[in-house]
Amino acid sequence: MLTDLDALVASPFARLAQLLADHEPGAPPIDLSLGEPRAALPGFVAPILAEHVAAFGRYPPIKGLPALREAIAVWLGRRYPDLAGAIVPETQILPLNGSREGLFSAIFPAMARRQVSRPAVLIPNPFYQAYAAAAAAAGAEPIFLPSHEKEGFLPDLDALEEDVLARTVALYLCSPSNPQGAVADPAYLEKAIALARRHDFMLFADECYSEIYTEHAPPGALETAQAATGTVDNVISFQSLSKRSGLPGLRSGFVAGDARFMAAFQRFRNVACPQVPLPIQHVSIAAWADETHVEAGRELYRANFDLADTILADRYGYRRPAGAFFLWLDMGAYGGGEQAAKTLWKGCGVKVLPGGYLARGEADGSNPGADFVRVALVHGPETTGDALTRIAACLG
Ligand SMILES: Cc1ncc(COP(=O)(O)O)c(C=O)c1O
Repeated sequence: MLTDLDALVASPFARLAQLLADHEPGAPPIDLSLGEPRAALPGFVAPILAEHVAAFGRYPPIKGLPALREAIAVWLGRRYPDLAGAIVPETQILPLNGSREGLFSAIFPAMARRQVSRPAVLIPNPFYQAYAAAAAAAGAEPIFLPSHEKEGFLPDLDALEEDVLARTVALYLCSPSNPQGAVADPAYLEKAIALARRHDFMLFADECYSEIYTEHAPPGALETAQAATGTVDNVISFQSLSKRSGLPGLRSGFVAGDARFMAAFQRFRNVACPQVPLPIQHVSIAAWADETHVEAGRELYRANFDLADTILADRYGYRRPAGAFFLWLDMGAYGGGEQAAKTLWKGCGVKVLPGGYLARGEADGSNPGADFVRVALVHGPETTGDALTRIAACLG
């Protein structure tokens, strides 16, 4: 089992470190490989932490403070009006130490609720690596769903085969997606929800980039389910303060949705998962209640994408994504993603992530990320402009 685990989950960042280990940067380095927001911390973080520091001396409840669940419910209703009053804070919301641990641990109650032989977990390809780690740890078969440009960078749900759907325990869906920034529209989400209900599996909507967009606020899976059918059965949504509030080190997010699933998830979490420290919960209450710092973050990403529009224009298959803060650039003409990552590091000190490290080989052996690099526009516009100018000069 452990050997399988090693083969199934390799950190893209460990692979990148290995790729560049023997090469010096050709200029003072700029790291665009990591999706880690770099803006200044919101001003409320330090005073709230200081005020509640003594609470580090207490074990926090797994359910979180009632005030946190309430703040999250209020945010859900503000962000997704169809959810106002529809999500019960007591039974349908749980805090997480960042969305990643929840995306990983949710697989266990999903497996338990649906006892099938050869359980399958559906995962877009490319994908966030925690999904595959979850499938591997739970002993389920990960089934990677092509999410190429021709599919709008989202899995083609009509292409799923009945025998696979019959043994599916969960479908991970990421919108806005990492790495391509694709956004699922309500029709797509409705189809995913209907499939989950027809085959009684869980839809795990990874919406940690829900707040990062340059024009329209992306629709959510819970609001779509609620608006279309009046319930959120079979759907849970993962949200995070890491991207929304630029607080990746806070490790704070939440999961919300299907009440029966959430009850099982809470029982499981109560013995197996980390609680969110109380001072962090207090900061989180303030972060979910405030939109000013979030709008400031969106302004920064808008400015960065404006620079990309100008500096990259129509090179490398560039298009402004509907959401998230990544560029997904086609390096097919530059020897592919790995070669381009080396060229950019050695030639101009810009660190980007080979797209192949975020994807798995498909049935024909091809890796859908192999030609691409992912570029995270997480710095301020000055650094971003410098990095993009270097990329364009280095590649030509
Ligand atoms: C698609 C996706 N999901 C989930 C996460 C996890 O974020 P966090 O655990 O910080 O909430 C990330 C982080 O980069 C991500 O890109």
